Amino acid sequence: MTTNIFIVLDGLDGSGKSEMISKLHDYLSKKNKKFRILTTREPTDGKYGKKIREILKKETNPIKNSKLLTKLYIKDRNEHLKNIIEPFLAEKGNEYNIVLCDRYYYSTLTFQHTQGVEINELIKLNMGFRKPDLCLILDLPPELALKRISKAKRKKEKFEDLEFMKRLRKNFLELKNRLNDNIKMIDASKQKSLVFRQIKKEIEEILSVRL
Ligand code: TYD
Repeated sequence: MTTNIFIVLDGLDGSGKSEMISKLHDYLSKKNKKFRILTTREPTDGKYGKKIREILKKETNPIKNSKLLTKLYIKDRNEHLKNIIEPFLAEKGNEYNIVLCDRYYYSTLTFQHTQGVEINELIKLNMGFRKPDLCLILDLPPELALKRISKAKRKKEKFEDLEFMKRLRKNFLELKNRLNDNIKMIDASKQKSLVFRQIKKEIEEILSVRL
């Protein structure tokens, strides 16, 4: 029988999410030869994801285009599930199919709500989508996230503004109350090895339940 596990990592920009996903991918590949792992992300590289990135690049006001972006994130997620995630999880012949997804509907419920879209509307738009088995939210103070972003000398993006990020963090912390999902908070303010240790602990727990 095939076991499917769908894991999401989400959180503020500058939380170290992408690096942790890549470490996790390596860790799981080495852990068990029978694991088949897909790392993927949202926004995707599909047509709606590309459109989103174009808008994000051009626009510097974090509140603008929120309705349009909401629509595009939903369309992108729909295609992502239909074309990439579901087919991968449905594949037979592998005992364990594991998806690691960098951002998912947790980002819509936090970013677009911080942009002014009603939370109930956002929940309604997203609750038809497949529920992940586990969501890890990498949490840290926005001041620290911004420091990490500027250290990496990345160009600042539209959502990387302190006040916006403070509200965003609050919305990430609210997710556990708003949803009936398996959400675990990870303290991402610690040094990398300690952050990864917390992530591994949660992963081991879900594996022990599911395998
Ligand atoms: P991300 O891929 O994390 O940015 P980068 O590739 O530059 O590291 O995502 C791009 C932005 O999209 C990010 O700031 C968060 C935002 N976003 C939303 O606002 N809503 C969503 O539903 C998703 C998936 C992302």
